[in-house]
Amino acid sequence: MEEIKVFCPATIANVSCGFDVLGLALDSVGDEMVIRKTKEKGIRITKILGQNLPLDAEKNVAGVAGFALLAQADYNGGFEIEIDKIIKPGSGIGSSAASSAGAVWGMNQLLGNPFSELELVAFAMQGEKLASLVAHADNVAPALFGGFTLVRSYDPLDVVAVHTPKELFATVIHPQIEVKTADSRKVLKTSISLQDGIKQWGNLGGLITGLFTEDYDLISRSLQDHIVEPIRSILIPGFNDVKKAAQAGGALGSGISGSGPSIFALSKGEETALEVGKSMKEVYKKIGIDFEVHVSKINTQGCKKIS
Ligand code: HSE
Repeated sequence: MEEIKVFCPATIANVSCGFDVLGLALDSVGDEMVIRKTKEKGIRITKILGQNLPLDAEKNVAGVAGFALLAQADYNGGFEIEIDKIIKPGSGIGSSAASSAGAVWGMNQLLGNPFSELELVAFAMQGEKLASLVAHADNVAPALFGGFTLVRSYDPLDVVAVHTPKELFATVIHPQIEVKTADSRKVLKTSISLQDGIKQWGNLGGLITGLFTEDYDLISRSLQDHIVEPIRSILIPGFNDVKKAAQAGGALGSGISGSGPSIFALSKGEETALEVGKSMKEVYKKIGIDFEVHVSKINTQGCKKIS
């Protein structure tokens, strides 16, 4: 295979109680990339549609993640990349992660899959480091593995695939403002109280258990964030009203998607997820802020070949 076209899914990181460790992949929104082997060494980004992002591979997350892979690959050639960028940068649904994960996943396919999924996560994290100054894996891991993933440890890197309940659907509303992950990390405190820690790891354990046992009530009780949401939500207009609207629409719970400004909700069943979307929309219609809404089943496959 000399060329591959890849779908790279959008992702929701943190999922309320799992800051920097938990994430999930979406199905209805993602980027498309064409990756081609070249005789010429190195990486060239030849086309980016949809967004104004650097073509210089050293400055583009897809290029940087790709260089991390190339440095470990037994391969004498290079790659050319074309990106159809559907996910807006600064949206909170893993824009940089989709490019980073898609690049290394596609390259691995073209080389005959010499690298494991975990190795691909480590390469893609280099793209995240360029975008947000921190090599977090909670977007790239679900983009590569699909479903929910838990980063059990960063050093050594250990990523666990978490079961996805069959009837779980996500709703995401994206108010059309840009929040850079690097900026929304700067506002966070660097230490937390033991009391907040107890609440947070109780909820994270509850959420993981609820996902594995398909216990929707437990998932609902566990979708709480006592540490990051109270601080970051100040950057998101109408946040508390959108949360109330999600609850009124029947969601199991809601919170900030990644570093925002998108807000996600999880629901049991597609019908409820659509209802939640309608309810959330009303808030931004009233405030007069443009928005996009995505309703999606959880993508259990991750990056995939589309041609
Ligand atoms: N865990 C990261 C953060 C995700 O919240 O900063 C960024 O999408």
